[in-house]
Amino acid sequence: MREIVSPSKTIDGIITLPGDKSISHRYGMLGAIAGGVTTITNYSTGADCQSTLACMAALGVKVEREEPGRVVIHGGALREPAKDLDAGNSGSTIRMLSGILAAQSFTSRIGGDESLSRRPMARVIKPLAEMGAAIDAREGTYPPLTIHGRKLHGIDYTLPVASAQVKSCLLLAGLFAAGDTIVREPVRTRDHTEIALRALGADLTIEKRVIKLSAGAKLTGRELVVPGDLSSAAFFLVAALLLPESNLVIHGVGLNPTRAALLDFLVGAGAPIKVVDVQQTGGELIGDLRVRAAKGGARIAGGVIEGAMTAALIDELPVLAVLGAASEGGLTVRDAGELRVKETDRIATLEANFKKMGAQFEAAPDGFHVPGRQTFHAAEFDSAGDHRIAMAFAVAALAADGPCAIEGADAASVSFPEFFSTLRQIAR
Ligand code: S3P
Repeated sequence: MREIVSPSKTIDGIITLPGDKSISHRYGMLGAIAGGVTTITNYSTGADCQSTLACMAALGVKVEREEPGRVVIHGGALREPAKDLDAGNSGSTIRMLSGILAAQSFTSRIGGDESLSRRPMARVIKPLAEMGAAIDAREGTYPPLTIHGRKLHGIDYTLPVASAQVKSCLLLAGLFAAGDTIVREPVRTRDHTEIALRALGADLTIEKRVIKLSAGAKLTGRELVVPGDLSSAAFFLVAALLLPESNLVIHGVGLNPTRAALLDFLVGAGAPIKVVDVQQTGGELIGDLRVRAAKGGARIAGGVIEGAMTAALIDELPVLAVLGAASEGGLTVRDAGELRVKETDRIATLEANFKKMGAQFEAAPDGFHVPGRQTFHAAEFDSAGDHRIAMAFAVAALAADGPCAIEGADAASVSFPEFFSTLRQIAR
């Protein structure tokens, strides 16, 4: 699908966003293996999270979708699926679910689309094998994965790459394993799995990036509410910062400290963002965001993102690159080799699209530099099937000197099907 985005003068409005993608995946999987009923409100409408629910249903779990965002899951034992499980475009689904499948009493096969079939899975296969799992993959790493269920035992594992997906995979496997499971993180990554496990009754401790899950956890279903997705909010925050006199309120956004580095970075760079009305739900923080840009537009300093900050901002880097090009001092990103193995090689897809808009972008093997004070020229570009690339360049198009055409814009629906309609609602 091709979407035309015309330049806008300002951003103005009050919006709420679909549920957080990361939290939705976890609630969907944990609800399916917990005893009893789990009722989820504001479950992500994104295709990725629907893939998770479809996989759980194919594993014999009763999943009722009452209305958009409301899901009722009758959890319990999983059954051997009649056909291959389809994770679609979703790395979170295949990596996290592998941990559960590795411990079942049956064999299953899980794969996905062309992009997912190019993404590395050795990062979960290796530690799961240490727990006693037997998993076959194309060239030892690529999907589809054939997972022969085995009796697993807990391990003490230090993550070689900062990855919440790998950490979560091992904790989910640990639920079924004999003995405790310990995961050590080199840098802190999103902790939604740990929070959700505790909320459903697991015995889990966290001390200085060492997570210990006690064996024999019995999870119990409950009512859960998914906060709005801060990574989706990022696109509108940046849009509001790019355009003068913006006035935007985003209600009910997830503010988990392991995700809120985005706000720290933006506020640190001079963004006029306020966080108000912070509350808790299911152990997760939720609150409202308000942005009010000055007459001449918000003045954003730019800066450097590296080390632990890169891991904390990994999903927001495409849209931060757009903001960086309009900032005073530009943006440098280091230690971001992971960008090369996301839904696309995001360093390459950013470079291709910035060039089309006549903007400078210097790619490095594990990062990039975007000079500041650049202008965007009207262009036709391609999402390359990557949701965050489609949305980041839709935001850039708002500040361009003429209408832009985005090929493959429908990729946005992987995480945020309502993205373009919400954008039209607030772009004036
Ligand atoms: C996610 C973790 C991140 C992130 C992805 C979602 C999660 O991936 O990029 O969009 O829900 O745990 P890694 O854990 O591979 O860094």
